[in-house]
Amino acid sequence: MNRINILGMGPGSSEYVLPISREIIEKSDILIGSERYIDDYCSDGQKSIVLYSNYPQVVEYLRKNLGRERISILVSGDSSFYSLTTYIKKNIEVKNLNIVPGISSLQYLFSRIGISYERTLLTSLHGREEDFWERSMDFDNIGILTDKNWNPKMIAEEIIKRNMDFKYIYVGEKLTYGDEKISRMTMEECLEFETDNINAVVISNE
Ligand SMILES: C[S@@+](CC[C@H](N)C(=O)[O-])C[C@H]1O[C@@H](n2cnc3c(N)ncnc32)[C@H](O)[C@@H]1O
Repeated sequence: MNRINILGMGPGSSEYVLPISREIIEKSDILIGSERYIDDYCSDGQKSIVLYSNYPQVVEYLRKNLGRERISILVSGDSSFYSLTTYIKKNIEVKNLNIVPGISSLQYLFSRIGISYERTLLTSLHGREEDFWERSMDFDNIGILTDKNWNPKMIAEEIIKRNMDFKYIYVGEKLTYGDEKISRMTMEECLEFETDNINAVVISNE
């Protein structure tokens, strides 16, 4: 039976999409994903559903067509790290899913700044409040997915306010794209940092 594919598409540039995901995409009857993915990957004869806040309708479609169509859902970064996969798993049994990993934006950022992430707390403030600050003191680094509210400046403010023992904040903007920008700042310098670009941050003493 055809399982529903959930494909991690990496941080952005198509060079960071795994070959197995490209193969699955080519063989799919229908692609489900953000407008950007549909524009870039949907070929003639393939059906598509653009994802926005239509998750319940998408789940209804999945239930109806499970096993009948070759369906692929394209998600950003790694499919098992703060992605739509969690929502899909609440609605479709995991045995009916083929979850293919991708390169997470944080994993990519750690490579670009040359810091290893084994003693790292990986977390997200993207559209959520997470109280990880106290326990993060047991780690060498913190990797954080951000959003418009929890931006790098706010994160630096929080670290200063809590008197935490971390010196540097790395901000990775538009990772893997041609206009990617990576900055290393002290927390105080970051208080002046403004950006509208999609970004992720790493907090470290290195
Ligand atoms: C919904 S989360 C998805 C995370 C994704 N599953 C991953 O593994 O990277 C979206 C957040 O990922 C980060 N992100 C995704 N793509 C990025 C990129 N190209 N550059 C910088 N940050 C990115 C941002 O913090 C963004 O707000």
